[in-house]
Amino acid sequence: MTRGKFITLEGIEGAGKSTATKFVCAWLQERAVVVRLTREPGGTPLAERVRQIVLERGTETLSPVTETLLMFAARALHVQSVILPALTRGEWVVCDRFTDATWAYQGSGRGVDAGLLGTLAAAVHGGLEPDCTLLFDLPAATGLARARARSGSGADRFEAETVAFFEKVRAGYLARARAEPRRFRVLDAAAPLADVERAIGSALKGLLSQEVTA
Ligand code: TMP
Repeated sequence: MTRGKFITLEGIEGAGKSTATKFVCAWLQERAVVVRLTREPGGTPLAERVRQIVLERGTETLSPVTETLLMFAARALHVQSVILPALTRGEWVVCDRFTDATWAYQGSGRGVDAGLLGTLAAAVHGGLEPDCTLLFDLPAATGLARARARSGSGADRFEAETVAFFEKVRAGYLARARAEPRRFRVLDAAAPLADVERAIGSALKGLLSQEVTA
């Protein structure tokens, strides 16, 4: 059985990732690919409980390192019980965020040490990297305005952050994309939806053709 492909979607808040995730799944299913849609932090019952802890506001203060450890704790559960088994069964895993989000939010955004992030990533999913990462890029002020319009007074711990924080996160994502141009596809999330979907389709076509020629 050929191992499935691992696709991740990344970007700051308000970049349209949720809509794009649905589009990716539908596009693949139309081509008879068995898809497992999942998300981080979350994706298993316990990891979803960790998600609540990191997103809720007004509780104890989480230091940047604590936040990082919680992200990786949720990821360890998710990788072992959902991602690896699905890929081994030959399913394609479409994951709304993965470790690039930790590099961007906790690394670039909060200033957590890169050495620590590298050690945790190796311990939690050494040998597993996405085959393709779609990065939805747009100016932080635009994304944040969209996200806040959607969540109103129910903004979570991250949505309550400043534009300056999201500029650092965005820069972190773009630096990762520059360092790994073969894995990343950077999409202009401020473009009309039809253009974004066309660009996603072209990235997915590339992945499907690798499968055929493998
Ligand atoms: P979501 O808005 O895409 O559902 O993601 C939840 C929030 O969690 C989002 O603000 C980004 C944040 N996050 C991190 O800070 N680090 C991580 O490793 C992950 C996966 C998400």
